[in-house]
Amino acid sequence: MSYILRDARKYEEINSRLIAQRPGFHLSARVGWMNDPNGFSWYKGRYHMFYQYYPYQTEWGPCYWGHAVSDDLLHWEYLPAALAPDQLYDRTGAFSGCAVTMEDGRQALIYTGNVDVEMPDGSCLREQTQNIAFGDGIDYVKYEGNPIMDKALLPKKASTMDFRDPKVFRHNGHWYCVTGSQKSCDHDGQLLLFRSEDLINWQFDHILVENKGRFGLMWECPDFFELDGKYVAITSPQDMLPRGFEYHNGDGTLCLIGSADENLNFTEEHDQAIDYGIDFYAPQTILTPDGRRVMIGWMQNWDTSRAVDRRMDRWIGQMTLPRELHLINNRLYETPVRELENLRRNKVEHHGILIDDEIELPDISGRRVDLTVRVRPVEAENLYRKFAIHFAEDADFHTTLSFHLEEEITKIDRKHSGSRRAIIHQRRALTPCAKPGEWSVRLILDDNSAEAFINNGEYVMTVLIYTRISADQISFVCQGKAIMDVEKYDLQ
Ligand code: FRU
Repeated sequence: MSYILRDARKYEEINSRLIAQRPGFHLSARVGWMNDPNGFSWYKGRYHMFYQYYPYQTEWGPCYWGHAVSDDLLHWEYLPAALAPDQLYDRTGAFSGCAVTMEDGRQALIYTGNVDVEMPDGSCLREQTQNIAFGDGIDYVKYEGNPIMDKALLPKKASTMDFRDPKVFRHNGHWYCVTGSQKSCDHDGQLLLFRSEDLINWQFDHILVENKGRFGLMWECPDFFELDGKYVAITSPQDMLPRGFEYHNGDGTLCLIGSADENLNFTEEHDQAIDYGIDFYAPQTILTPDGRRVMIGWMQNWDTSRAVDRRMDRWIGQMTLPRELHLINNRLYETPVRELENLRRNKVEHHGILIDDEIELPDISGRRVDLTVRVRPVEAENLYRKFAIHFAEDADFHTTLSFHLEEEITKIDRKHSGSRRAIIHQRRALTPCAKPGEWSVRLILDDNSAEAFINNGEYVMTVLIYTRISADQISFVCQGKAIMDVEKYDLQ
């Protein structure tokens, strides 16, 4: 083991003991900084999650791979850091990648080696290659023949500086690998597909998807899988321009739904965002042993990372809840993994509550809660105008999730949730109702995060909030008249 990895393991072991406060059921950085989920996998009977990790400060730095394991996707146990930037080909970062189980029972981590070289004129020359390490679920040894994929494999016009985030999967008896890429001439994003028989020797297969100027520039962190009889490509495009309420400025997420033939030639049929909130990026999926497609994303985003108060603690960065994925009418639906139901305690229900102003309900409060609210109009000719839930609320703070019936817009607003930065604090999504005025949300709060699964998971909005934990009231507001049902559990 390199001294760089050994030092990091020692450092995280000692310094993570000083951390008193963590989310209840979201995976957070063991110490220091966390971004993308990596190597989300099932190995030796447990879920493994690795992540982009810089243990030494609460800022991004040359990336390591942090490591944690879980039986239920909600309670995570930290293992020692798995990879360090300790080779010539990954010396400025062991960037994102994936994990697969090999035929001989070992686990392989396939990741991007990043090398940034500063040029005399101040510019940066970057090279990215794909590399492999073999291990037993705790310790990993990098292959002496690395890199396993380099620029020689790239198709014409693909940038050699931006070739990263391999996701490997098995199909028709072959290994396939999808990577993020962009064209060097115009920075237009694309996903590249490679093929191998042994995980070591790879050849370029074809361009899986081309952006053609539609969604941002460089495409990062792809995944490609079968879901409910279709094929789904997901990726995180950088530098997006907004389009309606679907896509917003900056780094976003994209889901392409379509079909594919035997050879994985993909035909797109539908595109959509994956999460309509503020803090979501770089998701990765797994097929669980019981056949569910489950996705976890980084519950943060590059531009909005400034909102996090780095003075507060020795860690920054957490993952979203694991979400089960489904396709319904060519749309991606996301619901919290069913394991979350095992954490439910103290059920409180209120049915058929008439609301025409602002109300609080008995025993509806908390910052680690699973709250479902269903709203409907009192009568079809008399629709309400706006319905809102305030949460993480006290005299000074509140975060609001509201539904604006006429425009069919759901809005999340975290302006009053402790942020002291001039960044985005609101976001809207178009969330059409199945029937006029019927809107529902399952809202999961875990200290400093809120994940809102709207209309049975058809739209999800994820935000971090910085509100003090004592602000735990929940209230409801209606302009006009509506009826609501509320079901709430504490999550422990
Ligand atoms: C996405 C990303 C990846 C890269 C990693 C570096 O958030 O930019 O493309 O591998 O972060 O930390």
